[in-house]
Amino acid sequence: MIRLDYRNTDANIIGNDNGLNIQEEFAKYKDTIAHIISDLNKRKDKPGQWLQWMNLGYNEETLWYVKEYASMVQGRFDNILVLGIGGSALGGMALSEALLKPYWNLLTPEQRNGLPRIFFLDNIDPDTITGLFEVLDLKKTLVNVITKSGSTAETMSQFMIVKNILEQELGSNYRYNLVATTDKKTGILRQIAEQEGYKTFVVPDDVGGRFSVFSAVGLVPLALVGIDIDEIMNGIKDMDLALKNTDINENIAAQNALIHYLMDTQKGKNLSVMMPYSSRLKYVSDWYVQLWAESLGKNKDKDGNDVHIGPTPIKALGATDQHSQIQLYNEGPNDKVINFIRVAEFDNNLEIPNIFEYTGIGYLGGKTINQLMNAEADSTKVALTDYNRPNVTITLDKVDGYNVAQLLYMLEVQTAIAGELYNINTFNQPGVEQAKNYTYALMGRAGYEESAQTLQAKMAMI
Ligand code: PA5
Repeated sequence: MIRLDYRNTDANIIGNDNGLNIQEEFAKYKDTIAHIISDLNKRKDKPGQWLQWMNLGYNEETLWYVKEYASMVQGRFDNILVLGIGGSALGGMALSEALLKPYWNLLTPEQRNGLPRIFFLDNIDPDTITGLFEVLDLKKTLVNVITKSGSTAETMSQFMIVKNILEQELGSNYRYNLVATTDKKTGILRQIAEQEGYKTFVVPDDVGGRFSVFSAVGLVPLALVGIDIDEIMNGIKDMDLALKNTDINENIAAQNALIHYLMDTQKGKNLSVMMPYSSRLKYVSDWYVQLWAESLGKNKDKDGNDVHIGPTPIKALGATDQHSQIQLYNEGPNDKVINFIRVAEFDNNLEIPNIFEYTGIGYLGGKTINQLMNAEADSTKVALTDYNRPNVTITLDKVDGYNVAQLLYMLEVQTAIAGELYNINTFNQPGVEQAKNYTYALMGRAGYEESAQTLQAKMAMI
């Protein structure tokens, strides 16, 4: 199981001004936390609560259909292309980057055991989209278009371009190169997929985009490139069981949620840095940034009061960002909680040769890059603690499906618990919808004429 070390947030270590009296706070919040955990678990099956993501680890049916589809199309495509944005892309990106062999797309088909390469087109930059189409032979590409709403402008515009090219190249057979993941009944993509006869998967009801990684949204692309999705499911199930424990002393998601909440509300530390010491976990930070920001950044609490709250998430990568951000974290404003992610055992052990003994770099010879990475993680942690900067460390035994799934699931539960502590609706995103609606209006979507007029008047004044 993954582990959380929160000792460096304690006042005994980083002083009263910046640290918390952890045992006292845990005791004070014991009942509140127990209530939050049992309430989340009670509400998770009720429609409209947006807590169905807590059941995804047990969705054997989806697992079966995804695996069956992946084995059916195996060997037919050279590439998988995922079209999606935000919650429809970030989870798949985080897990495929973590779980595939590094530089997967550069390996030969033999090195990939005949499995396809994978690309995520999450943005709408005309240059990178055009560039990607120069690299990919779309005839040999299976395109997985993912959108819960079925109407997001970025994803649908990519889809329209891709569909057109595929149809020109393959005629009516183009549909076999498309698989849509969307709502089971509603939305434009569902309508199109049914009319045109695409294979489809469902984004389950009551699962928001940023909590959808363990639904077909994440599982389909992962299975298509041969990632063991059973291992992922086992990781979530074991973590879910551990996080059902209502005792704060035993529940790492509750501990980290409470620490972040108290650091923000009592100590003015409203920035949360996610810093894995593993390049393979780099996109876990991107995924976390969306999860934390969209879930907790809210203007109203559940009672309708204006609150404008939410800790700001920041992504960093160890050891790279020691040479970019750590100066600020050590000596700048003491307004952050740093989350280190530490990998106990890397897949490879990489020795540094014993050369240049007679120079100042001779000390590196005979050591391993693994030792260096972990020494860097330790020294950054100690330095931050010397400067009284609160930091926690999440340790994974290794980067595999079981452990990384646990990490993501733990962060989801942590976010849900933090949302309850802030007393806000963790699962809506009115701020995102507002910008989406303005885009629809500006691009002339029917039904948005009034918004378009208001928007144009506002833009004229800027
Ligand atoms: O978490 C969310 O709800 C959002 O980030 C969505 O995932 C994102 O806006 C994409 O939406 P959709 O899946 O409807 O295309």
